[in-house]
Amino acid sequence: MNDRPDRVSVAVLVSGAGSNLRALHAASLTADSPFRIVLVISNNSGSGGLAYAADHAIPTLHVSGRTHPDPGALDAELVRQLQAHQIELIVTAGYMKKVGPRVLAEYAGRILNIHPSLLPAHGGPGMYGAAVHRAVLAAGDRLSGPSVHLVTDEYDEGEIIGHQEVPVLDGDTPETLAARVLVAEHELLPMVVTELSRRLRR
Ligand code: GRF
Repeated sequence: MNDRPDRVSVAVLVSGAGSNLRALHAASLTADSPFRIVLVISNNSGSGGLAYAADHAIPTLHVSGRTHPDPGALDAELVRQLQAHQIELIVTAGYMKKVGPRVLAEYAGRILNIHPSLLPAHGGPGMYGAAVHRAVLAAGDRLSGPSVHLVTDEYDEGEIIGHQEVPVLDGDTPETLAARVLVAEHELLPMVVTELSRRLRR
C-alpha cells in the first residue's frame, strides 16, 4: 500500500529480467520522487522482475493464462487488483502480453510502455527483443534508442511521450545495440514516469 499519498501509486507489469523495474524502483527511492511502486504484476512466475520485487518487499502478483485461462477473467482480475491497490499509473516494462480492454478503459491515458526503438519506426506485432535491433541494423539506421508511449489496443501505437536517441555504431550487432539502448531505457523510463507523476499531482 502507498504510505505516502502525496506520491503517485504505480504498478509495474513485467515478464522478464526486470531491469527497467529496477531502474524505476531506484528512482522511486530518492527523497523527492513523486511516485512509488506499490505493485509488481507478472504473467511469468519465474521472472526476474517478480523475484526482485519480492526481495524488496514490493507486493507481487502472478496473473497468467495458467491462473486465468479465460482472457476476460484475467482482464477483470487485473482491474480488481489494480483498484484494490489504488493504482494511479501503470508501466509495462518488458511485459509480453497485451493489456486487456477493461484495464485499458479503466486506465486510459495512464498506461505507459517502453519500447527499444525510436517509434513509430520498428514497432508493431512481433517487434520485440532482438527483432527490433535486427530491424534497425537491416534498415541501416544511424540512430536508435528507446521510446515511452501510451498503451492502446494496438502494439506500440499510442502517443509517444518521450524518447532518447542512441547512436548506431559501425560493427554493431543486435546484442551490442540492445545493450546500449537498454542503458538509455534505464534513464528515460524513470524520467518520464517522474514527469508524468508530477503532472498527475498538479
Ligand atoms: C526492454 O528492452 C524493453 O524496451 C522491452 O523489453 C525489454 C525489457 O527488459 N519492452 P527488462 O525486463 O526491463 O530488463
